[in-house]
Amino acid sequence: MRHLMSPLDFTVEELEQLFDLANDIEHNMDKYAHACSGKKLATCFYEPSTRTRLSFESAMLNLGGSVIGFSDANSSSAAKGESVSDTIRVISCFADICAMRHPKEGAPMVAASRSAIPVINAGDGGHQHPTQTLTDLLTIRSLKGRLGNFTIGLCGDLKFGRTVHSLINALVRYQGIRFIFISPEELKVPDYITDMLKEKHIPYEEVIRLEEIMPRLDFLYMTRVQKERFFNEEDYVRLKDFYILNREKMKLAKKDMLILHPLPRVNEISVEVDDDPRAAYFRQVQYGVYVRMALILTLLEINV
Ligand code: NCD
Repeated sequence: MRHLMSPLDFTVEELEQLFDLANDIEHNMDKYAHACSGKKLATCFYEPSTRTRLSFESAMLNLGGSVIGFSDANSSSAAKGESVSDTIRVISCFADICAMRHPKEGAPMVAASRSAIPVINAGDGGHQHPTQTLTDLLTIRSLKGRLGNFTIGLCGDLKFGRTVHSLINALVRYQGIRFIFISPEELKVPDYITDMLKEKHIPYEEVIRLEEIMPRLDFLYMTRVQKERFFNEEDYVRLKDFYILNREKMKLAKKDMLILHPLPRVNEISVEVDDDPRAAYFRQVQYGVYVRMALILTLLEINV
């Protein structure tokens, strides 16, 4: 039985197969409409989420399966003090597969070690968010036709943003990737990531101003400042509007640069940018459903 804790749990070849399946789903939805009939997905969300949870639920419903779960730790037995290990053993009796989000890093891993059903990490603290990464990779591959040979700028909260950490880890396996990290000093990408890049001889730069590097980017991955992971309100208020991508700044970008964002957006992308054909963040949400459908089928070993 397989779980998904990190994007690296799949080899590059396995990811190619997963993305091929996701693209087939995209173009032939009807073919998959009953693939999971009789199967249940449990969404166990100990931390707020709209899109990830609903994306999973929508994915399972599109496959003809059904969904059970909770969206708030206070409405689960965690509020009574139940451990994640016990919860997953119980859920294993109710469902065929589980997507778990937890504020504690490593909690889904603990659950997976005790589970009788596949567990998908749907985000653990500031650590990893593998299904967002699968979404990002599928979006890049579908819209650009390849997963290597480009310069990607990651901008915003690179310290606490788990989607950023997961994405960097996944992209280093492709050829010809250059990273440009754009953040204020306080929100720089963690040392363990830059150490890993140095070790693998992957080129990266760290800058503060977005404008100066904008013309060089093939992708700009914007992120929200992660309010819930700050220790004090004052720092958050000071940093929250550090970057605001607007039409003016978009004039500096390549004609075919694409803007990605895991969403939710706060102020970091002005709504006036939404009409720019280079804004790909809502298309990205749609790819998230296709890739989760492909993932559910793969982990449940269902062939259509
Ligand atoms: C991200 C997350 O939860 O880490 N959202 C998501 O799942 N699409 C990004 C964020 O919350 O900023």
